[in-house]
Amino acid sequence: MTLTRRLALAAALAAPLATTPALAQTQITVQHALPANSHTGVGASTFASAFERLTNGRYKVVAQRNDNEREMIESVQIGTIDCTFTSTGPVGNFVPEVRIFDVPFLFRDATHARGVLDSEIGQQVLARFPARGLVGVIWIENGFRNMTNSRREIHNPADLRGLKIRTMENQVHMRAFTTLGALPTPMAFSELVPALQQGTVDGQENPISVIVANNLNQVQRYMTMTRHVYSPQVMICNPQTVGRLSQADRALFQQAAREAQAANRARVTADDDAGVEELRRRGMTVVTEVDTAAFQAALAPAFAEWERTLDAATLRRIRDWR
Ligand code: PAF
Repeated sequence: MTLTRRLALAAALAAPLATTPALAQTQITVQHALPANSHTGVGASTFASAFERLTNGRYKVVAQRNDNEREMIESVQIGTIDCTFTSTGPVGNFVPEVRIFDVPFLFRDATHARGVLDSEIGQQVLARFPARGLVGVIWIENGFRNMTNSRREIHNPADLRGLKIRTMENQVHMRAFTTLGALPTPMAFSELVPALQQGTVDGQENPISVIVANNLNQVQRYMTMTRHVYSPQVMICNPQTVGRLSQADRALFQQAAREAQAANRARVTADDDAGVEELRRRGMTVVTEVDTAAFQAALAPAFAEWERTLDAATLRRIRDWR
């Protein structure tokens, strides 16, 4: 056989292989607020690479940024995206039982908060999502929230009086800021920077991880380490997306979510450790002397209301958790 004929034969044998369709790959879209290089971005990208790796590439996970958390939850509910990593900020408007975790000064520290969320208490709240057309997959976090503003140092509730503070679209937080004498203005995070620039609001509150990742030091002069509330995040998915997974793939999905949780929490811890120095380096005045007892005392009427309107027995279990 001539070389030409041998090459032609080889090409003919190879042809069917070349036209064999690639293995079907299912795409999953996950949206999160904040830049890719933030604690939420790291959580989403860790989930993406873990699920792709665990399923040997049968799934492709696309992570996208969206700073409007309410919009993301609505999109998951109607199925235009598959999953979101969102703070609990607007989640209570969809799953009211979540509001219990938004109560100020409820958690002593990260160990307490993470322990409760990973315990039966956190699982019981995740179990309330399906009745609202959502699947609560796993708790991740933003960390403890601190106040920033462009007017003055805040050490106690009197310093906060009359300040217009952007809050999340969250009833519990709004009630807290009203009780403390501030003027809470709820809005999506996507609207925050223009509102601070135009003076529509004087300040806002967010964990160090968010303040650093979004350069809020460029629009805020003061930060006070109030740590007034722990800010959980939760991975929420569309029920049909989860329902389409085989039982084995659902286990891998949960494993990928646990890897995302570990990466997200590690990043929040690192940001908290390095953040104060970083924000000082960027020129912010960071106030660490805070009269926490005065903030807690000023919130007494709101605490009494939450005992009535939220689940008092679960609040007690959370406070007693060791
Ligand atoms: O302030 C908020 O809206 C949230 O903390 C944020 C920054 C979107 C992260 O979840």
